[in-house]
Order: sequence, then C-alpha cells, then structure tokens
Amino acid sequence: METSQLKELLNRLTVKEKIGQLVQLSGDFFKEDQALLVGPQQKLGINDDMIPYVGSVLNVIGAEKVQEIQQRYLEQSEHKIPLLFMSDIIYGFRTVYPIPLGFSTSWNPDLIEKGYENMASEAVASGAHVTFAPMVDLVKDARWGRCLESLGEDTYLGSQYSAAMVRGIQKDLGPEKGLAACVKHFAAYGAAEGGRDYNNVDMSERRLRQEYLPAYKAAVDAGSRLVMTAFNTVDGIPATGNEWLLKDVLRDEWGFDGVIISDYAAVQELIAHGYALDDKDATLKAMTATNDIDMKTACYANQLEPLLEEGKLSLAKIDEAVWRVLTLKNELGLFEDPYRGASVEREAKEIFTPENLAVAQQIAEESIVLLRNQEQTLPLNTKEKVALIGPYSDSRELMGLWAVHGQMKDVKTLDEAFTECGKMEYLGYSKGCDMLENYDFLGEFGMPMEMIANYQLTAEQKIEVKKEALALASKADVVVMALGEHTLQSGEAGSRTNLRLPEKQLELLKEIHALNKKVVLVTFSGRPLVLTDELAYCDAILQAWFPGTKGAEAITNILVGQVNPSARLTQSFPYNEGQLPIYYNGFKTGRPEDSATHSGRFVSKYLDAPNQPLYAFGYGLSYHKTTCEGLNLSSHQLKAGSDDALTVTIQLENHSEIAGSEVVQLYIHDQAASVVRPVKELKAFKKVYLEGKTTQEVTFKVTEEMLKFYGRDMSYQAELGKFTLMVGLNSEKVEAIEFDLV
Ligand code: GLC
Repeated sequence: METSQLKELLNRLTVKEKIGQLVQLSGDFFKEDQALLVGPQQKLGINDDMIPYVGSVLNVIGAEKVQEIQQRYLEQSEHKIPLLFMSDIIYGFRTVYPIPLGFSTSWNPDLIEKGYENMASEAVASGAHVTFAPMVDLVKDARWGRCLESLGEDTYLGSQYSAAMVRGIQKDLGPEKGLAACVKHFAAYGAAEGGRDYNNVDMSERRLRQEYLPAYKAAVDAGSRLVMTAFNTVDGIPATGNEWLLKDVLRDEWGFDGVIISDYAAVQELIAHGYALDDKDATLKAMTATNDIDMKTACYANQLEPLLEEGKLSLAKIDEAVWRVLTLKNELGLFEDPYRGASVEREAKEIFTPENLAVAQQIAEESIVLLRNQEQTLPLNTKEKVALIGPYSDSRELMGLWAVHGQMKDVKTLDEAFTECGKMEYLGYSKGCDMLENYDFLGEFGMPMEMIANYQLTAEQKIEVKKEALALASKADVVVMALGEHTLQSGEAGSRTNLRLPEKQLELLKEIHALNKKVVLVTFSGRPLVLTDELAYCDAILQAWFPGTKGAEAITNILVGQVNPSARLTQSFPYNEGQLPIYYNGFKTGRPEDSATHSGRFVSKYLDAPNQPLYAFGYGLSYHKTTCEGLNLSSHQLKAGSDDALTVTIQLENHSEIAGSEVVQLYIHDQAASVVRPVKELKAFKKVYLEGKTTQEVTFKVTEEMLKFYGRDMSYQAELGKFTLMVGLNSEKVEAIEFDLV
C-alpha cells in the first residue's frame, strides 16, 4: 500500500487498535476454539478485549496453520491489518545446519549467506514473516549456554557473519520473498557475568563500542528490519528500558528506523531487575526507550491506555511505534497478500530439498574441527577394523537446542553413517555408558519424570553396555568414541561451571584406552568443553558441535578422509574453567608473562594453570601439511589521512599430496596508544584452497581504517605510532613485522 494510504490507516485506528499492534502473543491465544483463551489469557492477565487487535504471533509456523489463523483473525478485524508471524528460525528451518558456534569455524561467510538464503525460503513457504536471527552476541565465556548460538569471541569475524546472515535471510526481501531479520540480543548479552544466563552485564562504554556493538551494527547496516532487546542490563539499566542504548545509539547514532521487539517477557522483567515499580512503570520505561513490541506480557496491552489517559505518555509516542510496525507489514506486502508465501505446495517444493541438504552437509563438513591427530591417526584407512563406542553412537540428537523446526527423524546416527559409508571395516557400535548419570535437570523443561526415566539406562543395562563396549573395542584396530554434553545442557539457560565430559564418559574412555587401541574422540557440544584430561586417552579429537541434519555424514566423511577438515576455532577452548573468561585478544598488562623486568613469580599468570587456552582462537588441523612464511610489506610506513594502503604478502605452501583449505589470518597490535590495546586483533582473513604440492602467494591490504579504535576521548580514530602486523594459520603461530602510521 502507498505510504499515504498507510498514514490514513494509522489515523483511522482507535487507541486500542493501535496498542494491539504493539502486542505479541503466542499461538495458544489463536487456537480455533476461542474458549481456550481462558487458559493462557488468565496466566498472562491480558484484557480479553485486546486479543482481537494483537499485531503479531510468536512461533506459529506451517502454511495451513498460518493461513487458518490469519484468515480467522482478518475476518474479525475491522481494518484488515494482517498478523505478523515471527519465529525462532535460528540456524536452519527443516534443514538444520550446525549450531552457529559450529558453522562459524568454517570462516566462510559466503557459504553461510547461501545457507541462510535457503533457510529463509523454507521458512517463508511455511508462513514465517520474521525470524529472530541472526544472534550475534560476542562471547568469551564457555560457561554461558548460549555460546551455542553465538559466532564466537571475535568482533571482526562476528561482524562478517552478521552481515552475511542478514543478507541471506533478507535476500530479495519484499512482498513475495525473504524473511525480515531480527538481529539479537541487543546488546552484549554474551558478557553476562560468570557466564550465568540473564546475569548482569557491566563494562566500559569503550569496550562495549569497541568489541560488543560492531556485530549488531553490521546487521543494522546490512538492513536488518528488526532488533531484539537483550535480557541483561547495560551499565546498570536493562536493555529493554535503556533509552541511551535503544534510542541514542541504535536509532539516532546508527539510523535504525525499524522495529525493536523485546525479548520474551523482558518488558515486565524491568520490575524484577529493580528498574520499574510495576507493569505501568515498566511499560512507560520500555516505550520511552522506543521498544516497539512487548513480547508475551500484558504490560503494553493493559497499561498503555491508562498511561495515555494519565498524560504520562503521548499518543505521538505510540503512533511512532505503531507506524514502524505497520511499515514493516507493508514492506512485506501483507496488506496486499496476508498469506504471502505460505503455501502447502511451496512447502512440498522448497523444504528439505536435496540442494538445501547438500549445502547443509557442506556447512557441516567445513565446521568440524580437527583438534588433535597424533601420528596421523586420521584419516582412517579402509583396512582398519573400526568400533564405534559412546552415547552419541546411535543418537539422533545432533541438532542442538534451537533447532526448533528440525525433525529428529531426518537425522542419521553415526552408526547409520558408518554402516553406509563403506570406507572402513565397521564392526558396529555400543553406547558403552549413559549420556549422563543424572537427568533430573530435564524436569525444568517440563519433561515428565517417567519420560526422563526412559533416558536412563537401568543399573543392569549400565553393566551390560560397558561389557559389550569393551568386548567390541577389543576386536577393533581403531575405536571412535562419540562422547559429549547432553543437548539440553547448552543453549538458553544452559549455563554450567563444570565443562568436562560427564564422569562416566571419561571413565569409559580411560577403560577403552587401556585396551591399547588407537582412540579417536568425537565430541558433541554447544560450547567449548574442557578436554584437558582426555588428551592422555586419545590419539585424535574431532570437535563436532551439534552438527545438524547432515552432521553424521559430515563426521564420517572427515574420519575416512573423503573430506579434508579445514575448520578453525572461533572461541578459545579453556585449559580449565578457572581461566574463564578466556580469549585471544586480551591485554599485555604491566607484567606480561614474558616481562623482561620482573622475575618468574611476579608476572601476570596463575600458579596452577597456564594463561594460554588448551586450543586457541583460529586453531584447527587438517590432513595436509602447510607452511605460511615470508611475510612481506610493500612499505613500513602507512600515511595517515590518505587513502594509502600497505600491501601484505605471505607464501602459503602445501607440502603434501592432499588438497585442502587454510585460513590465513591477519592480526594487528597497536604498540602504544592513548588507551591500551589488545595484544592482537583479527583484521582480515582469507580461506585459501591449495591443490597438493602447490604454493600460493596470499595478499592483504592494510589501511588506516583497520587501525581505528575508541581512544581516550572516545573518538573513533587511528593514532600515529608503531604497529605490529602478524599473519599466521592460527592466533598463536604467526609471523610478525612492524610498520608505522605517520
Ligand atoms: C527466548 C530467547 C530469544 C528468542 C525468544 C523468542 O527467551 O532469549 O532468543 O528469540 O525468547 O522465543
């Protein structure tokens, strides 16, 4: 509809109709039997005369269901303003990719963009209009369960993925195609203190702007139509009521004119935070901060009209929010076609297609990290007898917590993939032990205790499967151990302080190792685990994350050498939990470990652990052997205030017959500045494919823009002085060279 018509529509709406556009309810409010409303409505306490005016629906999907609800809703709507259907389509729809912390190790934003484009077309066919993705919360603490959805610990890499995911989601966004992206969680949710979900976030504005905000800004600059507020405080004020964050920074500074939606119940949570007295106060603070939609509470529904009547809130403020929501609906063509792309025929044609599955498999194959490979244990050779042991050997739970629309039945088990691969002498599998010793925490998911009991092996079964596993392993040349955290031990509210493998799993690993076989550990997790103890009991480690619909095939292809692993870590794997938070781009301190002026003890280090992680950012192994040498600069001086650029070259050589990819990483350190600067920061990278026995010169450009930061006076600029430029195949092993900005 024309803008002028939309304006007229806005002016025709009653206050109640306007407020309705700012309320989002879940699907149970829209069930065919209206009487059902009593249940959820009572629970939420929303005035029932508001429901016919509600503007959007949370997590209702499926062409038929969306069409049915939309049709019934419009029949009773006087102004025929269609419902907006928003869902958590986070890393795949029916075709599920590896978790984002997994696929971020592909260092392949173009591939991820393609994956998100496919994801959007599957979801649009099922009636989705908005997805609550990308999640771009920077994270440095593996205790936080939502590492799973994040893109790791680096600002630059996270920003590249953020923009690529928005481009993929919103490809051809218009009346027919594309989903509206909703970048989340604004802002800095990944810095929750103690890695404990929903906890306080407190940091300097400098760190917030330098490290945490850029990935959200990359999404906004790429055109994300919505932003979701974070649960946490930012400098003492909860994000959902934080006017500085939402209005001054996001809207005024960045020019974001789209819709801001609160996270689930976050408007009402301003009370629990101690930032609002009651629903009315929470409503006023969230609206003043320009949060447009109240997800799943009755605050806006019940309190906006009283605030208007009491003169505490202007109708103009409400109109601004309603206008942004109507504009989004209009851009999606909903007034012309409220059913948009939702169609059963399209679902059949566009969902779970071989092409989409092929992309998912490629993403998985580029996302599995080879962490250890003693004496070239991997790849397996076809003559080797292989036993598969562990609770993940026959599990289909390989999609992770936020694969809301994935179907377990679509996921092959490792056992099935091994059986079908035909490139090993496969002896079969045994669970060997239970995933966990205690499943009581599942009760928090509302899982009935009798169902939890089904998860658990009985005492006799535990003895049985252990015996079976040892017997099977004793016949093998190589034992592949499929171990890891339970899928429900990570994701939202999945914060943990003990990041080691479950005790019984480590016990099993030790007993299998004692059989003197080659042992390959495949770990499944939604976060970096502490694998330090496991090193003594395995010859190779593959970090598989939760690898998605095609994960088992991807793992198998890597194990048998069909695929040469190329993934490189995007979040540090700690030596132990005591090191957390741990990240590659920390600061030197006045007493660095290699201090020339202080003796061994009196430097910044631990008495009982190294400063370094077990596995560093950017690290990963491959089956080929590469050197990265001969770092060279076109000049050792970069001219400030000009469009001058340094040309950086380095020689990459594949010394083996096996073709493969490397990720060449470029880091920069500002040696002395008006504020201390990290020991190194990723500023560029290139994923390079090399045929066997070939060399390639890799080139980068270094510009003044790459040297900018928030200085003492908070201005964003580069400062003259000396810089160290480092290039390597991970953040620890680099060649260094100096240059000056003059
Ligand atoms: C959840 C999550 C958010 C999700 C929303 C809707 O609590 O924090 O990421 O999009 O609620 O399900």
